[in-house]
Amino acid sequence: MAVKVENNIFYLETQHTMYQIRADEYGTLLHLWYGAKTGENMEYLLDYPDVGFSGNPYEAGSCRTYSLNTLPLEYAAAGVGDYRISAVSVTHADGSTALDLKYLHHKITRGKYSIPGLPAVYADEKEAETLEITLKDTAKPIYVILKYGILEELDIITRSAVIFNEGTKPITINRAHSFSMDLPYGKWDWMHFYGRHAMEQQAERVGLLHGIQENGSTRGNSSHQHNPSMLLCEKGCTEASGFCIGALLMYSGCFQTQLELDQLDQTRVVMGIHPDTFSWQLKEGESFYTPEVILSCTTHGMEQLSWNFHRIIREHVCRGKYKLARRPVLINNWEATYFDFNEEKIWNIAKEASKLGVDMMVLDDGWFGKRESDTSGLGDWYVNERKLNGGLGKLAERINGLGMKFGLWFEPEMVSEDSNLYREHPDWALQIPGRAPVRSRGQLVLDLTRQEVRDYLYQSVSQVLDSANIEYVKWDMNRSISDWYSHALPDSRQKEMPHRYVLGLYELLERLTSAYPNILFEGCCGGGGRFDAGILYYCPQIWCSDDTDAYERTKIQYGTSFFYPISAVGSHVSAVPNHQTGRVTPLSARTVTAMAGSFGYELDLNQLSDKEKKEVAEDIRRFKQYAPLIHNGRYYRLSSPFQNNIAVWSFVSKDQTEVLVQGMIFFTEANRLRSIVRLRGLDRQKQYQLVETNFVCNGQALMEGGVLLPKAWGDYMPVELHFQEYTK
Ligand code: DGJ
Repeated sequence: MAVKVENNIFYLETQHTMYQIRADEYGTLLHLWYGAKTGENMEYLLDYPDVGFSGNPYEAGSCRTYSLNTLPLEYAAAGVGDYRISAVSVTHADGSTALDLKYLHHKITRGKYSIPGLPAVYADEKEAETLEITLKDTAKPIYVILKYGILEELDIITRSAVIFNEGTKPITINRAHSFSMDLPYGKWDWMHFYGRHAMEQQAERVGLLHGIQENGSTRGNSSHQHNPSMLLCEKGCTEASGFCIGALLMYSGCFQTQLELDQLDQTRVVMGIHPDTFSWQLKEGESFYTPEVILSCTTHGMEQLSWNFHRIIREHVCRGKYKLARRPVLINNWEATYFDFNEEKIWNIAKEASKLGVDMMVLDDGWFGKRESDTSGLGDWYVNERKLNGGLGKLAERINGLGMKFGLWFEPEMVSEDSNLYREHPDWALQIPGRAPVRSRGQLVLDLTRQEVRDYLYQSVSQVLDSANIEYVKWDMNRSISDWYSHALPDSRQKEMPHRYVLGLYELLERLTSAYPNILFEGCCGGGGRFDAGILYYCPQIWCSDDTDAYERTKIQYGTSFFYPISAVGSHVSAVPNHQTGRVTPLSARTVTAMAGSFGYELDLNQLSDKEKKEVAEDIRRFKQYAPLIHNGRYYRLSSPFQNNIAVWSFVSKDQTEVLVQGMIFFTEANRLRSIVRLRGLDRQKQYQLVETNFVCNGQALMEGGVLLPKAWGDYMPVELHFQEYTK
């Protein structure tokens, strides 16, 4: 059993970790521990100081050392004497805002709970257990049910909360985070991933300051600017050693991560829906469900933490036929043609691609409605006959005739003012009455909270999918959302819109992905603007960034790898000079970088020389050979591109018989020694041969001494060293 309860202490145990909670004599739920499995009751670490201006609950009588302002709490509620950041805050019908949550009862069941309307980790009865702890406010019939999913073998704990109103009057939820966690011990660094469009997931590690620090998104999507994920690393924690905790929010909308280092040097973390763009009216008998947060911790450094997250995402978040399968090597026409294409151009790209071993042709933006530029057409999901006369059916057939699959781009959530859809239903776009809406990329956002809008999108997208043999869909979303207002909601509930939008999106994605189980869905939001575990529940891969520059991609993909598996990362070889930076990198460097993902191309292969085409054919052959190792092996970040002149990573097979080291030497220098990189994860006793050479070396030497990288000749030189176990 993963959950054990003794003397009101809950022990949630996984293979290597332990999470401990206590319902104390006042019914307060205390957080005792999240860390290595100790087999002990960790309550002995609790201190009860008498700290001035930290009030004491009435029931503690004259005791001055029992204070909610100093104790580590399991789900911190606002308004009852704890002045730190809170996980939950409500306004009752009488206008008061206190919520004094006390333990009522608990339930343990086999299997993993699910969450109505929201994506969640799934696992069967052999793989997981669920603990539900019900808390009740001392004065009002408001309940909070804390849910814990324990995936023992994977060292994963999930958390989510349900707020239930049993009263006769509505309450307003002002803040409903997915979890809070107090860490009274330790000196922590916060690692988070910030960025911008075409430069997502920049890794930053900073020591905590006293007070509150936070990041998040109020853009309606999880955003390019901050990712809904974070690590807390104990000082000194490295890739391969030391203690760290990871938290990944499974949500694709406005979110907030807050950390507070308090007056006693204790740390509190909360994460969940962003309260600035949220409010929820909860009527009699209604429940509100928070999104899920996935937690893991380890004493073996950040790479072990990443593997835990890679595994949970691949095996218990992604679904469908492609979740563990090698994805088709695709060619996308976006950077090859932008909006300027016709059937012949697409056909020519596909024809060349098929000769080189590409599996699928993806037709990007511009195939529908009056879509000649980004100012028109969104919403009109029927073929643009001027560009594709004969329609999608004929094009797909021709491409299938080459032995290739055919895939298509959509941006269902958006509408152009210059479209038939907008002319017919202007009220379907988010606009506040009496105010001109904010345009972004010249487009408006559809009100996905409305059933008739979702039905229209379901019907129009499925009509296209039924009209041709389409085996892949790229689901794009190209702006941040503003002008939150729905004609379908009363004015008093408009602040519910950002969360209702995400619920609407998930409903639509669920409907389409289950109706078309054989289609591979790839998420996209101008690249990585919605790269999160919520989207991965519907789409097993996401276009990682609109930046296809191989040098910058090493940084973006490095940051992405902390939580997300390689198979989730859409990554393409594009033309040079690069369209985002003007940088020229060798084809070989663009290729190794794109191989650390779900691999593809995004250029007109007809523009390549014969020599380059030969190289591409060989690269595709090699990628297909390496794919099982790249996607199922363990991923190691061997050097940080943020701190070094090299970015080197490796994939090691589970049985440690095969190792692929790839990466890039950024800038060449005259008269200098070649770089050495120490490998990790090898069997120290085994002999390894560098494939196609006579170089043989034992694992101990490759890990302690390292490997010599090739001599850099020119900038952005690729690294690719393939080792296999050597047996005489
Ligand atoms: C943004 C995407 O990230 C690109 O790959 C491309 O699909 C464009 N949108 C098309 O408008």
